Amino acid sequence: MEKEILDKYIKAGKIAAEVRDYGCSLVKKDALVVEIAEKIDKKIEELGAKPAFPVNISINDMAAHWHPVINDKTTIKEEDYVKIDVGVHVDGYIGDTAKTIRVAGKDDLIICSEKMLENAIKIIKPGVTIGEIGEVIENTAKEFGFNPIRNLTGHSLGRYDVHAGLVIPNIKNDSKYQLREDEVIAIEPFCTSGNGLVKDSGKALIFRWINDKPIRLIEGRKILEMAREKFERLPFAKRWIQKYFSPLKVELSLRELETVNALYGYKPLREVSGKPVAQTEHTLIVKEKPIVTTRLL
Ligand code: CO
Repeated sequence: MEKEILDKYIKAGKIAAEVRDYGCSLVKKDALVVEIAEKIDKKIEELGAKPAFPVNISINDMAAHWHPVINDKTTIKEEDYVKIDVGVHVDGYIGDTAKTIRVAGKDDLIICSEKMLENAIKIIKPGVTIGEIGEVIENTAKEFGFNPIRNLTGHSLGRYDVHAGLVIPNIKNDSKYQLREDEVIAIEPFCTSGNGLVKDSGKALIFRWINDKPIRLIEGRKILEMAREKFERLPFAKRWIQKYFSPLKVELSLRELETVNALYGYKPLREVSGKPVAQTEHTLIVKEKPIVTTRLL
C-alpha cells in the first residue's frame, strides 16, 4: 500500500476511534439520543474527517442501522445496551468501529462481543480464510453461552465504499477465501442471548444514492443531488435532510426516491426474539502483524 493511502487510513481510523469513545462518554441516563448524534457529527468535523455513514446508535434488540430523526425523543435508560457504530473517512479512506456501552455497567454479553473480536484479530494475517475467522468468532460466543448474529457480517472497505464486496460472517462457514496483504477489512461480531437472527424493522432512517432517476418532486430531485454530491454517494441520515425540507416533503420525497430505486433505504435491524445485542468492531489492514487502525494506543 502506498504510504499516502496508508496514512489516510490510519488518520481516519484514529479519528473514528476518538469519535467512538467520545460518543460512548455521552451515553448517560436520560440523555437524548439525537443530541448524542448531533455532538458526534460535530466532533467528526472538528477532528478533520467526514462521516462515512451516519453514526448508528442501536439500542437493545435493535442490532444495527438505527439513527434518530430530527425531533427524536428517544432517551437512554440505565439497562440499555447502546451500540455506537462510527464510520468516518479521510479523502474516501474509511475507519469503521463500534463499541457497546451500558450505563448500568459492562456485563458478559458486552465482554463476549469484545472477546469475539479480540480472538478474531489474533488470527488475522495474509492467508487466513474467511471460514477460519467465522469459526473463531462463533466458538467464542458459544463459550459464553451466547449466539452470534448469523445474518450480520464484517466486510471489506474500499475508497468511498463501506461494503467493498468481501463479506466476513460471524459464524462457521465454508469460505476458503484467503485474506491478502493490505486488504482493508472491518470485523464486527454481534452476539445475543436470543435467537441470533435480525430482520427489518420499521422504515429506513439511513439512505444511500444508487441511481439517478427522473424524480417528480423538486425536493426529491434536490435530495438525490445531495445524496450524490454533498454525501458523496455514501450513506446519509434522514435527520440530515430534515434540516433542509419540510417534514411532509421529506416523507414524500424519500418514498418516491426509494420506490424508483434512486435511493437505497437501510431499514433498522432488530433481533427476531427481542433479546439484547452487543457489537464490537475494528478496522484492520491485513499484514503479518495487522494494523488495527481504530485501536487507540
Ligand atoms: Co462495519
